[in-house]
Amino acid sequence: QIPVICIDGPSGSGKGTVAAQVAERLGYRLLDSGALYRITGLVATRAGMALEATNAERIAALIAAQQLEFTSDQRVLVNGEDVSLAIRTEEAGMNASKVSAFPAVRSALVGVQHAFRALPGLVADGRDMGTVIFPHAPLKVYLTASVQCRAERRYKQLISKGLPANMQALFADLEARDARDMHRAAAPLKPAEDALQLDNSTGTAEEAVQQVMDWWAA
Ligand code: C5P
Repeated sequence: QIPVICIDGPSGSGKGTVAAQVAERLGYRLLDSGALYRITGLVATRAGMALEATNAERIAALIAAQQLEFTSDQRVLVNGEDVSLAIRTEEAGMNASKVSAFPAVRSALVGVQHAFRALPGLVADGRDMGTVIFPHAPLKVYLTASVQCRAERRYKQLISKGLPANMQALFADLEARDARDMHRAAAPLKPAEDALQLDNSTGTAEEAVQQVMDWWAA
């Protein structure tokens, strides 16, 4: 049995940072499942498809046909092209949120996510890691943080990558994305029944990482 640690939560809760650091400390592989939805939004948009439910099957077929590669230094290649930066914009995040509401798209990405399991273990970052993709995982963490705090975190992330960022717009985007992620019919964002909740509004990333490590060791 390959151990899986699930880290779920809303946008900007700090999941990505915490998941990456836990994976590094344990020498585990990292699954950034949000990247898969971001890639799907990107390839569909590039193919000229409107991100609407009527296109869901076509978008699912399109993503299934792409050759995806995840490098050990966390770059993402689609048919050999590095899209690591292109999928990080706010627009790519909103597009990811749109395509992720389509059940056909979610189904098309299940196998890709399961294939990330490898010894000595996997840290899986997303929205439904603990509820849908790895329901038997021995540790499920649900990371939360206030909207204000998450908007500030996103702002700093975007600026540090040299991408455009506007606090007001980020705040509105986050609330829209949270509402869509939580109220959709397909895999709505919610903590798994056996998830341990961790509020990441005040403490440092280091403290959150340490808490997860302590839970894992317990
Ligand atoms: O985490 P990230 O911001 O990269 O995710 C982008 C979008 O992809 C989220 O807003 C969410 O709608 C969707 N997503 C999802 N299920 C996941 C990961 C991400 O629906 N496991």
